[in-house]
Amino acid sequence: MSLDKKLLENLIDITSKAAISCYPHLGKKNKILADKAATDVMRYNLNKLDIDGEVVIGEGELDEAPMLYIGEKLGNNKGPKIDIAVDPVEGTNFVAKNLPGAISVIAISEKGNLFKAPETYMNKIAFGPNISKDVIDLDNPIEKNVKNLSDFKNKKIEDISVCLLDRPRHKEIIQTLKKLKVKIKLITDGDVTGALLVTDKKYDVDIFLGIGGGPEGVIVASALDAMNCNFQGRFIFEKDDDKLRAKKMGIKDLHKKYEIEEIVKGDSIFCATGITSGDLIKGVKKDGNFFLTETLITHKYQKLVNKIHKKYPNK
Ligand code: FBP
Repeated sequence: MSLDKKLLENLIDITSKAAISCYPHLGKKNKILADKAATDVMRYNLNKLDIDGEVVIGEGELDEAPMLYIGEKLGNNKGPKIDIAVDPVEGTNFVAKNLPGAISVIAISEKGNLFKAPETYMNKIAFGPNISKDVIDLDNPIEKNVKNLSDFKNKKIEDISVCLLDRPRHKEIIQTLKKLKVKIKLITDGDVTGALLVTDKKYDVDIFLGIGGGPEGVIVASALDAMNCNFQGRFIFEKDDDKLRAKKMGIKDLHKKYEIEEIVKGDSIFCATGITSGDLIKGVKKDGNFFLTETLITHKYQKLVNKIHKKYPNK
């Protein structure tokens, strides 16, 4: 079974409209309002689709966020059962400060095929495309992963580029990378984009790694899967509360390392529209009475990876 192509068209439209809804909030130092605008647009439009959908990755859980919470039902109930992962604004700080790299994202699969993940951190690693699994592993020491990759790609270690979030929790990793003399690309936010930089030589990133949001890990895994890249992740449950929530969601082994094929199965669609221009996707542009958008799309069963441009009247 595969996902209807029409759903891809619908989702491009929804992430585009969500990105446009952030335009008035660019540089207004209010990430909450920007996130709310994009969340409202997504929710309204997802509810119009001919699907029997359920949010598996959302804006918090029911008690925390009134909209697009994990478990929320979406769609008019007249179509296929679909799992939905949303990140209405990935990089809320970028929107608030009008900085490059904010995107609006949705990923979907058939029911039961996208990992239902709690709001917690995840230790992750992304690489590819077409790098065999024995080259890199989340549980290898970083030195081993870098050395293996340098041999596999026949590339000098100092030419290997590693991307990660610039966070105090990554101090040791950064020290190790400095000793190895690899190229370090530190990003301030937006690890969905960070991980997607491994998908093409032109971005010059060989490995993305480190601790970031678990939901972002699941979302990006769907695009990486469709692009023949690889991803592994392990959730980090520190507080008792987190452990309890994870168990309620059906996660039995809290220390499990998840392979990409355990996070996303079967067909999937991923759409990410740029809000502000970044390395990967161009942001929303205002052109007279129109908004122009750029959306990165993947549809696994169609073997489709593309950038779609749309034009919307400024109402
Ligand atoms: P938001 O857009 O929700 O603010 O998330 C941005 C982000 O940088 C994610 O890309 C990343 O996974 C997460 O925050 C990292 O969390 P933290 O800022 O707590 O290190």
